[in-house]
Amino acid sequence: MTFSPKIELHLHLEGAAPPAFIRGLAREKDIDLSGIFRTDGSYDTGDFKRFLDVYEAAASVLTTPEDYARLTVAVLEDLSARGVIYAEVFTAPQIAAKNDLPLWRDHVAAMTEAADTVPGIELRQIATCVRHFGPEGARGAARCAAETTGGQVTGFGMGGDERVLSPEDFTWAFDCAREAGLGLTSHAGEFGGPESVRDTLDHLKVARIGHGVRAIEDLALVDRLAEDGIVLEVNPGSNVALGVYAKIDAHPIERLRNRGVKVTVSTDDPPFFHTDMDAEYEALHRAFGWDDDIFRQINRTAAEAAFCDADTRTTLLKALE
Ligand code: ADE
Ligand code: ZN
Repeated sequence: MTFSPKIELHLHLEGAAPPAFIRGLAREKDIDLSGIFRTDGSYDTGDFKRFLDVYEAAASVLTTPEDYARLTVAVLEDLSARGVIYAEVFTAPQIAAKNDLPLWRDHVAAMTEAADTVPGIELRQIATCVRHFGPEGARGAARCAAETTGGQVTGFGMGGDERVLSPEDFTWAFDCAREAGLGLTSHAGEFGGPESVRDTLDHLKVARIGHGVRAIEDLALVDRLAEDGIVLEVNPGSNVALGVYAKIDAHPIERLRNRGVKVTVSTDDPPFFHTDMDAEYEALHRAFGWDDDIFRQINRTAAEAAFCDADTRTTLLKALE
């Protein structure tokens, strides 16, 4: 099952770094990261907490604009080779730039310039705060995002550990980003239940939810998502790898879609979860019989929900015809 062209809306740039890329940078900078790799060279992840720890350790070697430029090229070349024509990547001002605005500006500029060198794919950047780093850090990330709005920075989001704090704690950050004109998305309904999705909608007023799949545990909420046209950035392989669902057959994406929820398909952190866009599509084809018509519809939904300008959206929709 191969389907092209594809649109990816939920991809963490740091989480898309191949282990060999991170090892190479660590070697160059003389940083010891031996604890985060298995003997076969892959990331040594386990449960969600371990995943976040390994992710943050790996990301710690990314410090300079040049690092981000190199990573952007590596990631986009891989996506483009798989038929992805448009990608939105999450980048975290709190991780590499430590919310330092001049450095963050340099990172954004480096990623923007790097993306423009890769043919066949269009990039947008979603500046993202990290929930378990707390509300003050999120406010700083939102300020960084607001100051770089325009160009490729078109969205603001939140990732991290959904089991700590509550969406309400991040209202200021999301209000700031909204006032700057950024599209809004937040992780919810991955390791939190339906109440986490509901609180995120009520307090952060996002257009899209990262994951959102555990909304399935409350059908009234599912109906609200459908009625309000909230778009879910679903990452089935990530959910299975982190144990949210035991296997793809048990994943609720098909039930959500059948009840009228706008679902899209992405990879989250592909090398951590041993996945890529083609593997995701193949798994959905096998588990639920999804065919080209359904994949075209999913990608149309993604194009309509993309945080991009009208001309770009028109181009994407045309490419999907
Ligand atoms: N950051 C990177 N991947 C994530 C995930 N799956 N959930 C929450 N935060 C993340
Ligand atoms: Zn994610």
